[in-house]
Amino acid sequence: MIVADYIKKLKPYEGGKPTEELKRELCIDGEIIKLASNENPLGASKKAVEVIIKNADKVFLYPDGNAYYLKKKMAEKLFVEDENIIFGNGSDELLDLIYKTFATNKEDEILYCYPTFIEYKLIGMGFNKKLRELPLKGFGYDIDLLIENITDNTKIIFLNTPNNPTGTMISRSDIERVVHAADNNCIVVIDEAYYEYAIAEDDYDELLDLYKLGNVIVLRTFSKAYGLAGLRIGYGIAKREIIDYLNRTRPPFNVNILAQEAALAALDDDEHIKKSVESNLKGKKFLYAEFEKLDIDYINTYANFILFDVKKDANTVYEKLLKKGVIVRSMAGYGYTTSLRVTVGTMEENKVFIDRLKEVLANV
Ligand SMILES: Cc1ncc(COP(=O)(O)O)c(C=O)c1O
Repeated sequence: MIVADYIKKLKPYEGGKPTEELKRELCIDGEIIKLASNENPLGASKKAVEVIIKNADKVFLYPDGNAYYLKKKMAEKLFVEDENIIFGNGSDELLDLIYKTFATNKEDEILYCYPTFIEYKLIGMGFNKKLRELPLKGFGYDIDLLIENITDNTKIIFLNTPNNPTGTMISRSDIERVVHAADNNCIVVIDEAYYEYAIAEDDYDELLDLYKLGNVIVLRTFSKAYGLAGLRIGYGIAKREIIDYLNRTRPPFNVNILAQEAALAALDDDEHIKKSVESNLKGKKFLYAEFEKLDIDYINTYANFILFDVKKDANTVYEKLLKKGVIVRSMAGYGYTTSLRVTVGTMEENKVFIDRLKEVLANV
């Protein structure tokens, strides 16, 4: 047998079709509106784009495997030391490295509440790990249940705040409880992919310093508010020892030259983050109000996406929206059979989404 059974059971990631192809297939004349992957609808910072163009002729070189300048800048921004930081080819790669580095024994268990970011599960399946999946309580984390389920075999605990796809946050005190319960016997990952959006909310606490509390890795990304999803760059903050171990399994040139340069420029463009966050807050308010008018239940979000319940078959609504040129995510696969997730778009995109949703709901 050339491959293990657990690999045979995996399914390759099925990405959506390119929007141009969809337009052709579905005979759509206008623009396709993609509100499916929680990208920044305002795009990348102009400063980052300029730097990408300026550095395009450097791509024949291997990148700096230590991301020296970017690490320095990030360390200054976050008030940590260089050796507390690791960059990844998206935070996805860091999730992979965390598995590869720490979940190395057959009996290791991975603990998380679900629905959450699907990669915790998919990567774990790729490493043939025992996944202990607990239900959310309502739409948030059941911290008591999570703590009760920590065993001697627990190796990694994933906490996603704000949680994708529900948009709910985990309080700082609850995260502290998990870290104390983990008692340095396992790694606690705090995935803050939507941090820049979340921190704009009054009751969202800073969590970064929790890395000092124990074997904690805080993950963030340039893919969301920074608008650099296509370049693939994310980062992790942890104690020096943890970062050192991760660096031992990290491929040497994992973050490309353009990603490093663009991230450096993006860190200088606070204005772009501010505008992106403001646009998100405005968009959220608009969508909440429209959902209320349509008697659609939704979950208050700390991120740039909203989980909403149309009380009709989610896959049907998804398909019909797609035919009208609006791409959102059906949540049926997560067990929310009548819910969808929409990324907050520009105001124009939000309006088109609501208009199309009204048309669809009138006919299903
Ligand atoms: C919660 C969460 N973590 C991590 C990621 C991965 O981000 P990246 O693009 O940095 O790999 C995503 C992307 O959607 C996410 O929603």
